[in-house]
Amino acid sequence: MAKPKVHYECTQCGYRSSKWLGRCSDCSEWNTFVESREEPAVDARSPRAISKRVPGGATGKPIPITQMTDEDVAKRWDTGIGEFDRILGGGLVPGSVTLVGGSPGVGKSTLLLQVALSLSSQGRRVLYASGEESTGQVRDRAHRLGKPNDRLLLQAETDLKRILQAADEVQPQVLVVDSVQTTFAPELGGTPGNVSQVREVAARLVLYAKATGRAVLLVGHVTKGGQLAGPKTLEHVVDTVIYFEGDANPPYRVLRGVKNRFGATGELGLFEMTGEGLREVSEPSAALLQDRPSDRPGTVVTSCVEGSRTLLLEIQALVAPGFPGSTRRTALGVDGGRLAMLVAVLGKTDYVLHDKDVFVNVVGGVRVSETSADLAVAAAITSSLLERPVAPEWLVLGEVGLTGELRSVPRLDQRLNEALRHGFKRALIPRPPERWKSPRGMKCEAAGSLEEAMETLF
Ligand code: TYD
Ligand code: MG
Repeated sequence: MAKPKVHYECTQCGYRSSKWLGRCSDCSEWNTFVESREEPAVDARSPRAISKRVPGGATGKPIPITQMTDEDVAKRWDTGIGEFDRILGGGLVPGSVTLVGGSPGVGKSTLLLQVALSLSSQGRRVLYASGEESTGQVRDRAHRLGKPNDRLLLQAETDLKRILQAADEVQPQVLVVDSVQTTFAPELGGTPGNVSQVREVAARLVLYAKATGRAVLLVGHVTKGGQLAGPKTLEHVVDTVIYFEGDANPPYRVLRGVKNRFGATGELGLFEMTGEGLREVSEPSAALLQDRPSDRPGTVVTSCVEGSRTLLLEIQALVAPGFPGSTRRTALGVDGGRLAMLVAVLGKTDYVLHDKDVFVNVVGGVRVSETSADLAVAAAITSSLLERPVAPEWLVLGEVGLTGELRSVPRLDQRLNEALRHGFKRALIPRPPERWKSPRGMKCEAAGSLEEAMETLF
């Protein structure tokens, strides 16, 4: 066999180079290069062999869309864990690979073991291969989480070949591999978890899933920066990517779909870590608002649309004296660039913050990516600056533009109705279209600019 060729690869962006580089010439990150080996062709029989048995009859032959039957469309398997199924788009798709990422201790193994227990109790055979814990440890945990039965098989193994051999023997419908970083293919050399190992393990599991029509659930660790540890390409080869957001500290665990070949992305699920594993939170808005100190300055509630769900979120801000020239802007759960922009826009009005430290946090460990939360962030900052609370019945919505203008938000009614359901009676919103009517029971005040909005609130 030819000697595998060595090259170096950036763990951030996947850029390859024949020499080791201190700084990636593509993404400019420092110290990200690791040795990587040219892997032998993954599997000589690959594409054809796979396509023959992909569920949905992928024979490689073009077929008219009108002649396809329901048989050609992959069915889904309910995992029995509602929040997880919703993020998947309605259950596990046979023949798919789902990557569940998150920081250590956040609950990846717990979730997948619960999924495995639930699937096996519905009569499906599941193989749970762990490279991180012994079968004894997994068994103990399984007893804590549910009632195990003999359709759930455990294997403590790091060698991918042996995992796939075991899968060939026991023929599970679902294979769980915990984790992609500890599983390795010894013939490739290098240490488990390095770029080429991770890529190869994922690629072989994808082949396995497609060739057998079984579902694979794969655990992946993320680095401090929230990136998946391993090559960026990992996300591209799998069908679905789900992340636990944040770290293991907050009481709630937020699970979000970031890629889904079989459904919508952006779906969010909320879990609580309890003594009996992860519990689904059925009323997330109520749960996230329950400890809100509504009589204090610096807290404002907004409404966000996350996938098919509308969530009420508490935005908190703290403004403290800082040293001019080296003030701090700390954003947890909101984008740092967005926060800097809002501080600058506020600075153009009466709310000067150049000598203040500003901290913003979204309660519950949820990340907000919607710009509709801008006005709530600005209001929370102003509330803390003025040391005047925002009355608790207010819901605040709106995108803030660079000139301080307020811009409309999509799905306004959906957001207002969720707030109404939780007892909010007043809403501050950007100017709505003509003839728009506010929902019954809610008084809406429209503002055209940030200044106008702050005058209404304070
Ligand atoms: P784990 O699923 O092992 O995390 P990961 O696989 O993402 O690294 O979760 C570990 C944490 O969860 C650990 O700190 C203990 C806690 N935990 C509970 O609080 N209750 C439980 O029932 C279980 C199984 C774990
Ligand atoms: Mg684990």
